[in-house]
Amino acid sequence: MTDRMTTPSAELMLARFPEDSRDQLRAWDASDEYLLRHLADSGQALDGTVVVVGDRWGALTTALGAHGPVQVTDSFLTREATRANLARNGADPASVRLLTTRDAMPGRTDVLLVRVPKSLALLEDQLLRLAPSVHGGTVVVGTGMVKEIHTSTLKLFERILGPTRTSLAEKKARLIFCTPNPGLARPANPWPLSYTLPDGIGPVSGRTVVNEAGVFCAERLDIGTRFFLRHLPYGAGGEGTGGDGADGGRIVDLGCGNGVVGTAMALARPASEVLFVDESYQAVASAEATYRVNTDDAAERGKAEFRVGDGLNGLPEASVDLVLTNPPFHSHQATTDATAWRMFGGARRTLRPGGELWVVGNRHLGYHVKLRRLFGNSELVASDAKFVVLKAVRR
Ligand SMILES: C[S@@+](CC[C@H](N)C(=O)[O-])C[C@H]1O[C@@H](n2cnc3c(N)ncnc32)[C@H](O)[C@@H]1O
Repeated sequence: MTDRMTTPSAELMLARFPEDSRDQLRAWDASDEYLLRHLADSGQALDGTVVVVGDRWGALTTALGAHGPVQVTDSFLTREATRANLARNGADPASVRLLTTRDAMPGRTDVLLVRVPKSLALLEDQLLRLAPSVHGGTVVVGTGMVKEIHTSTLKLFERILGPTRTSLAEKKARLIFCTPNPGLARPANPWPLSYTLPDGIGPVSGRTVVNEAGVFCAERLDIGTRFFLRHLPYGAGGEGTGGDGADGGRIVDLGCGNGVVGTAMALARPASEVLFVDESYQAVASAEATYRVNTDDAAERGKAEFRVGDGLNGLPEASVDLVLTNPPFHSHQATTDATAWRMFGGARRTLRPGGELWVVGNRHLGYHVKLRRLFGNSELVASDAKFVVLKAVRR
């Protein structure tokens, strides 16, 4: 849905990405409005380099377009939304710099605006990476919904940048004001974090997983992923319970996170090519690192590809043999199954006839209904009290 946002300086038409007319969710919230109102009411000069971190759908970057902001995001969807929203409002795309979490941070930051992300780890990593560019005169203002700002959030600002206080709440949003202290002894950046996988989960048992900040389940294996790993189609000798298990072919780890699923397949089926896809730059970097620490052979390495994107968009039709996914059911804080639908639809389009989509999910999510609707079939591969592994075949 495209909707009109009234800011102190303009009326903007904004939408999320991908734009969906059935989607009633706006591309901004009260915390974006509060921050923009504060900047206008306080007469804050936005001189020098303005850095916007954590903008969800580009509302802040678009509203502040005249100040030539630098956006830092971990999300491919945020980048696409920002580009589309800038264009929708006639902004010159060249006036804005769009950086990802994997890029070098700006050398100097004069105004730092932080839309508090869902992940405290991502906030920690971003503040630590930006801190060297912050000086005693940098204006730092954070914003978020009250439920997203915790004592731990404020402590991070305190520990990394300097003294921090919050505003009163307005429309369930709150601002964070931080006065940078350039003399502060900053903590070392703990990211990326690695952990060792448990036993009994197939080819990755006892292996190492590398996690960049903000990645799904960065400190321990997700229980759904664990169940999935016990039932993947590894082939003869593996622990999978289904699929023809033939080696070779093209496998996609869709929504790869730290890449544990695709790495398990690469180890079990070394003649296969594995494509790791995620919309998070940190996730794709983690997947690449996980894959590399577990495959020491140069020939094996040639068989993996790492791609940041929206699901399977951009992949040719009928080009893959197996898609494996533990789909997200949250998108930037909102609970939604729209992404899972897009992923399943993308799998139907990109699988070759006879190719299979394997999905793990909570039983209550009812993915089998969606799979039957899209593929005309859905088979239960495994289940326990909480999870199901389902398989759909492209006929
Ligand atoms: C439930 S996590 C699963 C991660 C990993 N496969 C695992 O099992 O640990 C879902 C993943 O999907 C990714 N994701 C969300 N929306 C996406 C999209 N539109 N396209 C690709 N990946 C997406 C998230 O960033 C997240 O890493």
